Amino acid sequence: MSDTAGRTGRPFGGYLRRHDHEADAELTSVGPGTPCGDYLRRFWQPVALSDQLGELPLAVRMLGEDLVLFRTKGGDAGLLERHCSHRGTSLEYGIVTEWGLRCCYHGWLYGTDGALLETPNHPGSRLAGQFYHPAYPLRETKGILFAYMGPPDSVPAFPEFDTCVEPGNDLVPFSLHYPCNWLQVLENTQDPVHSVFLHTRISGVQFAPSWGELPELDYVETPLGMMNVNMRRWKSSVWLRTTEVIFPNINQAGALYETGEQEKTLARISLTRWMRPCDDTGTAIIGWRHFNDRVDAGLGDRDQVGLGKIDFVGQTQARSYEEMQRVPGDFEAIASQRPIAIHALENLCASDKGVAMLRRLLRRQIRALRDGKTAAPPPYPDSGAISTFTQDTVREIPARDEAERDRELLRAVGAAGMRSLLDSAGRPPDERARLLDEALQHFSNAT
Ligand code: FES
Ligand SMILES: [Fe+2]
Repeated sequence: MSDTAGRTGRPFGGYLRRHDHEADAELTSVGPGTPCGDYLRRFWQPVALSDQLGELPLAVRMLGEDLVLFRTKGGDAGLLERHCSHRGTSLEYGIVTEWGLRCCYHGWLYGTDGALLETPNHPGSRLAGQFYHPAYPLRETKGILFAYMGPPDSVPAFPEFDTCVEPGNDLVPFSLHYPCNWLQVLENTQDPVHSVFLHTRISGVQFAPSWGELPELDYVETPLGMMNVNMRRWKSSVWLRTTEVIFPNINQAGALYETGEQEKTLARISLTRWMRPCDDTGTAIIGWRHFNDRVDAGLGDRDQVGLGKIDFVGQTQARSYEEMQRVPGDFEAIASQRPIAIHALENLCASDKGVAMLRRLLRRQIRALRDGKTAAPPPYPDSGAISTFTQDTVREIPARDEAERDRELLRAVGAAGMRSLLDSAGRPPDERARLLDEALQHFSNAT
């Protein structure tokens, strides 16, 4: 019979392969009552774009729950269990009123907090005023509606990331659907080696030629989650790129079109995105595309960012099948790992260190919560911006003669940069940039 590493153990052994491998439910099952679902429910999660919510209710699926999102004529948004508490009719067919959402079948009226306000089919009933339909609190910010679906007495502060409050930043919301499990979408962000192959050598240059250079790599825990540290030699420069996961399911990404040629320090990000599960086999990627004059200046297209679209290649299933086959991008690579990637069938190698680390750290968080200990979520402060770690820095640093010595140099630059980024957390952006500059200065001086 087969094993995982050798799979079938012999040539032309397809018949011998096993078909009984299951998904890693601890990390991939998100429904109510599952350990991972409980963990994800402890954080604010994006529901939909504000623009999606017009005068009609919107059916949404989140964490395996069928819900309905609506905005009253008074302007307040609500998120309710989709099926009416009377006899189960979907409230997506409900009527929005000044105060709430009225079921189309017999007219029960619900407030945004779930309060049953009227039962017109049952005059004199005392249910109204005492009964609450399941509801979740919402928060609307920068064009996205977020919900908290965890225990009502443990609502966390809403995270304000430094990268989302920096001046001169135009945040354009977007929402993409991936027909697969959330974890594999998030894992992609800690698999920087795919940028070399998928995005450059295999599909042609999708971002910049510099992405095709194999980096030296490191992976490190941060106070918010983890990040990968990429050190690339590109011509006479060293390009230091960090890409983070903020627990539980957020990613920030640096410049999309970084060429690695112009000197810069602590250039921040192009994307903030939540990989928010719809259910075990569907994921909404919801977040903001960042437009400013510091990152990818003039290279983005805000008109191509929004519901079901984003302004760079290979992120949706909107292309023809032939094009997807000829020039695959992230969507094809990620969604085709199966509806839920089966970890038992993988053969992880050295380049998957970040993926393995992300799984290990998430499992630790999920188990801590399950076992009644406090999980160690990001220490979001109640107010003020949270220092994050994604950035690009490019330094003119001449190459050392021998390849191995140059790789040593790259690793030293990466270690110094990573340490500086971690140590400067909590300080103002200008100071963090100055400290990073100082930390790397001697590499530029030593020729
Ligand atoms: S099913 Fe909704 S009011 Fe009767
Ligand atoms: Fe990618």
